[in-house]
Amino acid sequence: MNRPAPHAPASYLSELFSLHGRVALVTGGSSGIGRAIAEALARAGASVVVLARRQDELDATVAALTALGGRAASVSADLADRDALHAAADRAAEVFGEPDILVNAAGINLRPHMDELTPQVWDATMAVNLDAPYLLGRRFGPGMAERGYGRLIHITSQQAYRAFVSSGAYGVSKAGLAALARSQAEAWSPHGVTANTLVPGFVLTPLNQRLQSDPALVEALAARTFTGRNGVAEDFAGAAVFLASPASSYVTGQALFVDGGFSTH
Ligand SMILES: NC(=O)c1ccc[n+]([C@@H]2O[C@H](COP(=O)([O-])OP(=O)(O)OC[C@H]3O[C@@H](n4cnc5c(N)ncnc54)[C@H](OP(=O)(O)O)[C@@H]3O)[C@@H](O)[C@H]2O)c1
Repeated sequence: MNRPAPHAPASYLSELFSLHGRVALVTGGSSGIGRAIAEALARAGASVVVLARRQDELDATVAALTALGGRAASVSADLADRDALHAAADRAAEVFGEPDILVNAAGINLRPHMDELTPQVWDATMAVNLDAPYLLGRRFGPGMAERGYGRLIHITSQQAYRAFVSSGAYGVSKAGLAALARSQAEAWSPHGVTANTLVPGFVLTPLNQRLQSDPALVEALAARTFTGRNGVAEDFAGAAVFLASPASSYVTGQALFVDGGFSTH
């Protein structure tokens, strides 16, 4: 019986998942989930620019990615400042060229009770969590569509779907981000540009250090998953490579929950 010759596994996996020759911009790529994704994309072959405010963390990330054999660079900017964002986007595109992959991982969660939620907290949250992904999508999406390949990956939150520990402005910003991904998918998918979200549960990163100081809460949250543990940043590596790669070309406008079953338990 004649069987089709199997591809060598390495070349088959490369066809599906390799990011060689691709350029990625990862906001918030210097810490937590963004940093783990930046490393994953670099290890899958992409040239990666990480964008955040603190230069020390950016330098450490670039050094780590380079030590792993990746191509990496950084741009320091405050995404809450629109002029700085536009300048940073241009600087980022000058390093390795216009990005094929944009990961919006930068985010803040200030968590005041609704009674204390000031317009300042509201504006600061929207600026980083929602306005910046929109502005960066506007800057890079049309070019991706013109070139016929693009991947927009947003990190939202379970709080886009349910209230959780003073969701306040944060949950609203993440619900908006989920809608932004759908709108971008509608606009640009006919031209090879997908837009999707990764939805974390409770992940042990600097973002929620205050909540992590309560061991009973950390344990209770782990018990709410199916896997029996809270997330770590590295849990996002495989899902991010998938959504950045040719393998996900027919996946768009979707939310992929990477939460150990937290949302379905
Ligand atoms: N950890 C969780 O349980 C969890 C759950 C759901 C969703 N998420 C989402 O996952 C994403 C990553 O969070 P994480 O937990 O990995 O947090 P993290 O470790 O605190 O990382 C946040 C990153 O965003 C950058 N950033 C924050 N504000 C910025 C600004 N104004 N301009 C530019 N960069 C800025 C930070 O760098 P600088 O401070 O140096 O600027 C850092 O690189 C966020 O969007 C968060 O909302 C996290």
